[in-house]
Amino acid sequence: MANFKTLDDLGDVTGKVALVRVDLNLPMADGRATDLTRALAVKPTILELAEKGAKVVLLAHFGRPKGERHSTMSLSLIQGEQERVIGKEVMFIPEVQGPVAAQAIGILRAGDVGMLENTRFWPGEEANDPEFAKGIATNGDFYVNDAFSAAHRAHATTEGLAHLLPAYAGRALEKELTALDAALGNPETPVAAVVGGAKVSTKLAVLQNLVSKVQHLIIGGGMANTFLAARGVDVGKSLCEHDLTGTAEEIMEAADAAGCTVHLPYDVVVAKEFAANPPSLRTCNVHEVAPDEMILDVGPQAVEALGDVLKTCRTLVWNGPMGAFETPPFDAATVALARTAAALTVEGSLVSVAGGGDTVAALAHAGVTDDVTYISTAGGAFLEWMEGKELPGVAALSA
Ligand code: 3PG
Repeated sequence: MANFKTLDDLGDVTGKVALVRVDLNLPMADGRATDLTRALAVKPTILELAEKGAKVVLLAHFGRPKGERHSTMSLSLIQGEQERVIGKEVMFIPEVQGPVAAQAIGILRAGDVGMLENTRFWPGEEANDPEFAKGIATNGDFYVNDAFSAAHRAHATTEGLAHLLPAYAGRALEKELTALDAALGNPETPVAAVVGGAKVSTKLAVLQNLVSKVQHLIIGGGMANTFLAARGVDVGKSLCEHDLTGTAEEIMEAADAAGCTVHLPYDVVVAKEFAANPPSLRTCNVHEVAPDEMILDVGPQAVEALGDVLKTCRTLVWNGPMGAFETPPFDAATVALARTAAALTVEGSLVSVAGGGDTVAALAHAGVTDDVTYISTAGGAFLEWMEGKELPGVAALSA
C-alpha cells in the first residue's frame, strides 16, 4: 500500500491552519443536496482536527465551472449542508488565496472551521499551476487530503499542495485506501470481480487489468452481450458493441493465459420491449434469444452458479449492475447476487468492496449497503483504481 502519513502522525496542531481537501461535489436539486454521503464522509477528519485545536480550512471543487466564477457552482451553496452535517459553524470565505482569504483565515480561532470558494473558479486549479498552489499554501501550516473521489485528478489542491506543505491523509482517505488494498493490493485469494454496466467500451482498461489480478471475472449487464456475441451467440436486439467483439475475445484469451475464469451468463431474462414487467418477458438459454428480443438481466440459474463461485472466494470487488436494475424485474440478478455477497461477508468468509455510482445505488436497492465490507462513493477515481492506475492525489501524499 502507498506509504503516507495520517492524522496519527500530527504533532501539536493547536492554532495551526490545516488546509483540508475534501470532495463536496454533491448532487443537488432545487438548491439542496440530494445525497450527503460525501459531506458525512469527511466529518470525522474535520471534527478530529478541530478538537485537536487546528483552524480547519476546507478546500473543494463543485461542478465543472472551467476556471470562471458561476454563482450556481459557489461552495456557499454547500456551506449550510456541511454545517448541519458536522453540527458546527462553517465560515464561508469567497476566495481561495490573496488578501481576503488571508484576512478571513487570520480571524479563525483554534477549533474553528472555514470553507474556501470553489477551487475550480480559477484556471490554476485544473492546470495544477504551482503559483496558484503557492498562493493557497501560504495561508496554511499543513495539508490534509480527504478526497479519494477526486484523487484521480492531478490538480493544484488534490496534488500540488502535497508538495508544498507537510501532507497527511485524512480519515476517509485512509479508510478508503486500506479497504482498496485489502481488495486488490494485497487480497486474500481467490478473488472474484463482478464487472457490469452497459458498455464494454467504458471499462476496457478495468477488464484488461483485472484478468491478471483475479481468479474469477464475472461479467454482467449490457457488456456481457458483447462477450456473448464474441463467443458466437446471437444476442438479438440486445445492447451490444459488435465492433468490440474482437477486443472481448482478446480479454478472454488474456484471462485464459492468466488462469482467470471468465463467467458469462448461460441463461438470461429477455423481452421484446424495455419496460417494467413487459408482457413479452421470459427466461431462456442464451442460445435461444429471438432476433426481436433483448437481454435485460442475467437468468436465475446463472445467478445461482455465480453465488456458488462467490462461496469459494475470499475477496470480491464489484463495479456495475448485472442487469437493467432500475426497471423491475431486471433488478433480480443484481439483488440476488448482492444478497449472497452480503451474507457471505456477514458470515466472515468474504471481504467485499464495491464502488461507482450505479453500484452504490444497486446495492442500496438490494438493501445490503451495511453488510458489504466497504462501499466507495468514488466514481472516476474508483474506476481508475480498478484499472490499476496510480492516483496522483494518493501518489503525492507518499512522495
Ligand atoms: C466526482 O464527482 O466524481 C469527483 O468530485 C470528481 O469530479 P470531476 O469528474 O468533475 O473531476
